[in-house]
Amino acid sequence: MAEKLKILIDTDPGLGARNTDVDDGIAILLALASPELEVAGVTTVGGNVPRDIGSLNILRLLRRIGRKDIPFAPGSAEPVGGVDTKLEDKWRGVEVPSPTEEEKEALLRIKAGNGTAVDFILRSIEAFGDGLTLVALGPLTNLGLAAAQAPELFGRVRQIVIMGGSARSGNVSATAEFNLWCDPEAADVVFRSGIQVVMFGLDITTRIEVVPQVIAGWSEAGGFLRFLQEASVDYMHFRSQRYGRKHPFMYYHDAMPVAWLADPLLFDTVPCWVDVEKTGRYTRGMTVVDQDGRFHGGSTPHRLASEIRSEAFQELLLGRIQDTYRGID
Ligand code: RIB
Ligand code: CA
Repeated sequence: MAEKLKILIDTDPGLGARNTDVDDGIAILLALASPELEVAGVTTVGGNVPRDIGSLNILRLLRRIGRKDIPFAPGSAEPVGGVDTKLEDKWRGVEVPSPTEEEKEALLRIKAGNGTAVDFILRSIEAFGDGLTLVALGPLTNLGLAAAQAPELFGRVRQIVIMGGSARSGNVSATAEFNLWCDPEAADVVFRSGIQVVMFGLDITTRIEVVPQVIAGWSEAGGFLRFLQEASVDYMHFRSQRYGRKHPFMYYHDAMPVAWLADPLLFDTVPCWVDVEKTGRYTRGMTVVDQDGRFHGGSTPHRLASEIRSEAFQELLLGRIQDTYRGID
């Protein structure tokens, strides 16, 4: 087998809390179930949930699946653009069991040992250089801060793969996708860092609507898979009520960049230039995607995921999760 691809996942994990997105957790589970990938570490960022809840969710998830070997570091700061009232609204509905004293101590030890997300990202690049791929599944705050703090070192990373942005319409406004909208300043730094960004935007991540029936099989397995199934269906119902959808469903969003890294044949990507709008009254957080660089002298430093083999993608995702985590309580 070819050498494993070393990845660092930066994420805003809601799984483990109610009334927030579970796709980061599913993406992390897929990464850890993929023999093509080696997860060098995880960093958390505020987004679906405040960064401290994200860190608590990661601590609990890794412990539950027996992967305490995966190092993680907590988010460095809230989004550079500042915590917006929309974000506070999103967080208001989140429910999560409070940390126990032992969990609080464990998180303290982890922060003391691994430093902040930016420290961890830069140390990982120092250690693995162009052997490391950064996978960003939430706002780009940590990556933007790392690139701004040590541009030379950051420039050694192999590639950046993100779930974020959109070449067409948004999901927090008519123009902006949530991850980019949370911190456009940081995103702008990342897209201008000189590293290729492979962008899995809403154009591709909303191609598949995941309805409860799709993951019903997880429930029969009991234990952790039943937890995952129930958390996902609970989130689907929450979404349909909050956003007035006709039926409960969700998107896999964050699982797609991870699946592409495991099997690039699942997707097509096209070359592009990307600008991030930071100031527009109606367009702040918008990714302005210039396919083929038509308006930038043909310059296409980045790539946009453009097509998906949906059946094969779902088979890989559902199959690997079922096979790997069946029997975990
Ligand atoms: O817009 C989709 C993105 O926002 C996903 O990363 C999801 O987890 C939420 O963070
Ligand atoms: Ca996310």
